[in-house]
Amino acid sequence: MCTTMTHEAAATPADDLTPGQQAFSEHIFRTINGGAASLMIAIGHRTGLWDALNDGERVTSVSLAAKAQLDERYVREWLAAMATARIVEYAPESGEYWLPADHAVFLGKDAALGDMSGMFQFISVLGNVESRIVDCFRTGGGVPYEAYDRFHECMAQESDVTVVEALEDHILPLMPGLTDRLEQGIAVADIGCGSGRALNRLAALYPNSRFTGYDLCEDTVHLARSEAEELGLTNVAFVQQDATLLDGEDLFDLIFTFDAVHDQAQPAEVLGHIRRLVKDDGIYLMQDIDAATKVQDNFDNPLGTFVYTISCMHCMTVSLAQGGVGLGAAWGAELAEQMLGEAGFGDVSLHRLPHDMMNLYFVCRP
Ligand SMILES: C[S@@+](CC[C@H](N)C(=O)[O-])C[C@H]1O[C@@H](n2cnc3c(N)ncnc32)[C@H](O)[C@@H]1O
Repeated sequence: MCTTMTHEAAATPADDLTPGQQAFSEHIFRTINGGAASLMIAIGHRTGLWDALNDGERVTSVSLAAKAQLDERYVREWLAAMATARIVEYAPESGEYWLPADHAVFLGKDAALGDMSGMFQFISVLGNVESRIVDCFRTGGGVPYEAYDRFHECMAQESDVTVVEALEDHILPLMPGLTDRLEQGIAVADIGCGSGRALNRLAALYPNSRFTGYDLCEDTVHLARSEAEELGLTNVAFVQQDATLLDGEDLFDLIFTFDAVHDQAQPAEVLGHIRRLVKDDGIYLMQDIDAATKVQDNFDNPLGTFVYTISCMHCMTVSLAQGGVGLGAAWGAELAEQMLGEAGFGDVSLHRLPHDMMNLYFVCRP
């Protein structure tokens, strides 16, 4: 006997569920599917599959595997996951898949509105330290930066999208007159500079200005220096330095922190150092996570769960691992403004930029 099985309803005892239970079961299934899809989106990023699909061309698993130079069996399974996630479209009669134009603007290196696929790598980066985080739930303490495989690599890719490519069109225009001063020649610092891509781009754009990047991690400082060398830049220096102990005498006209205050061991102290190091007519630009300080004010934040999760599994715990305060990624705009004021910044304006839904931009003057 031949039977045909369809999956009109999920395999749940739906008839026995109250409407509230039914709604929650759908929600929880959507949630696990979202987590699974996130892993596959990240794999698409790392294997170049989004780049290969980004032109909207119709493909089969065979043609896509050939185009991306990958193994067909894996590509077939990946396409099935992305089709059931409603990210790629599928025509069963022809066996063809394609990335609709409205989706292509967010996925792949040529994505017109910025490639979001790299951001999904953070889910697997965090998954790699899950056991250590579980231990911390039991014993306290934290997981140090060096425990995170590929964190800095993923962060540098993220920085390319939200900072490096947006410097000229979005970020520098937040500070009127700044580009003239950069052209004339000023002193600029980036604290928690990571792999230094933003500073290297600025150093290339403004050869009369002098740039200094500080970061705790030896690996990122090394990467930043290598890129500067490759680019032949002589107006930029990178220093391995714990920002908590920034005791330099040199003052700066402009200081940046890109996504680098909330995971500091002692963020209040670092803000105090920044205030001391910025000239009285200088500017401090702080890019940090777009969140509200109170949990209830983050319910409508489209990235609320993501922010609290990266906080718990990275930003908060790396601070605690340094014996720090564990401020967390969702410290929020209200607390950020308060702490900037306490550090001595009397003039703070808050901005959102269209290319970056993850961050706020605080332009701070003494
Ligand atoms: C989230 S990453 C951001 C990196 C970079 N600004 C970017 O946008 O790609 C935060 C950076 O702060 C650095 N950091 C953390 N604690 C630090 C400390 N105590 N002193 C100096 N840098 C620190 C980390 O090494 C890391 O590179």
